[in-house]
Amino acid sequence: MQSLQSLHTFALPTHCQKLVRVTASEQLQSIDFNAPFFILGEGSNSVFLNDFEGTVIQLANRGITVSEQDSHYQIRVAAGESWHPMVLKLLDMGIGGLENLALIPGTVGAAPVQNIGAYGVELADVFSHLTGYHLETQSFITLDKSACEFGYRDSVFKQALYGRFIITEVVLKLPKQWRPVLDYGPLRDLIGREVNAQQVANRVMQIRRSKLPDPAQCANAGSFFKNPVVSRALASELRARYEGIPTYPVSDNKEKLAAGWLIERAGLKSHRIGGIRVYDKQALVLVNDGQGTGRDLLTMIEHIQATVLAKFAVELSPEVRLIGRNGELSKGVEHG
Ligand code: FAD
Ligand code: EPU
Repeated sequence: MQSLQSLHTFALPTHCQKLVRVTASEQLQSIDFNAPFFILGEGSNSVFLNDFEGTVIQLANRGITVSEQDSHYQIRVAAGESWHPMVLKLLDMGIGGLENLALIPGTVGAAPVQNIGAYGVELADVFSHLTGYHLETQSFITLDKSACEFGYRDSVFKQALYGRFIITEVVLKLPKQWRPVLDYGPLRDLIGREVNAQQVANRVMQIRRSKLPDPAQCANAGSFFKNPVVSRALASELRARYEGIPTYPVSDNKEKLAAGWLIERAGLKSHRIGGIRVYDKQALVLVNDGQGTGRDLLTMIEHIQATVLAKFAVELSPEVRLIGRNGELSKGVEHG
């Protein structure tokens, strides 16, 4: 038995049968994928609710190579590298483009899985292609951006290639002609000022530190639910009923709501169930005070979903990956 507590940032006191660390991608060819397994990076978007009856395979290969092309830099990164230190390393080299995504925890290999995003930029905007191991063909293949089918917190790795593809290397494309992206809420203060990429990164890190708990100090998994996408009709109805409700256009007939706002307005900020609490500075974040259990967490998830549904007629789906005894839970807690 191997403890998983320090291997996922929500830090529930659970175990797996076996842990395999992959430090070279070729190792994947000798693993038996017929037995239950879970692919893990740094566990910042995965919560192990119970002891997992299988093998956890942790991607821990390393290496970053930067090559200069005519109009852009190409950054080739092994899946096991940590995302944020890579962002800082590139900024130190004078290469911008990832500053809005500073301080996002986790590995580079997990970044395409939910198409990480923050402050108006998402992975898809800086992505070129990736390589990974396809479990069915037992071969390494390369996928370009369109094959990854990136969406809001979504990609082909959560859909058609779910459980069948292990990302081993990601290649990013960053234009040499740097342009700041300052449209997202609190970054608008910087519009019209002479800023460089490092200064934008500093501002992003400052905002994030003021809202989001540092997993090293307070166990959490970032935003627990996705921001719900609803019909324009429902969004209009909610705007009429609740002054100041944040809504963001998605398409002609869809709008996105802020789950944190809904949870706060449902009166659940700081709500506690056992050792699990709704974070007081950001209601979309759940924290484990160190005594939390998988049962407490499931009760909290269901309570939040039911309360928000009853008050706003909006269904919340978890953003984090919830892993039970036999693998990932799906429809059990996922409404819609
Ligand atoms: P893990 O949790 O280890 O894995 C996540 C999922 O990806 C699992 O399903 C796993 O099986 C799969 N996976 C992991 N590696 C691979 C691989 N190599 N190949 C195939 N599948 C793989 N996310 C955002 O988008 N924006 C944010 O602003 C943001 N802020 C956060 C803030 C905090 C404080 C925390 C704790 C999390 C935040 N997150 C955010 C979520 C998290 O940082 C990202 O989802 C990150 O990409 C997870 O990386 P990881 O290595 O920890 O993934
Ligand atoms: N809000 C509240 N109360 C709260 C929380 C938020 O009223 O308790 C309101 C805010 O005032 C704002 C709106 O909701 O009007 C949006 O809040 P915020 O800017 O903090 O962002 P978010 O929608 O809660 C999303 C991502 C984050 C990402 C930030 C910044 C999702 C699920 N979450 O959060 O990603 O860092 O935007 O771009 O899309 C993550 O995925 O783990 C994550 C942290």
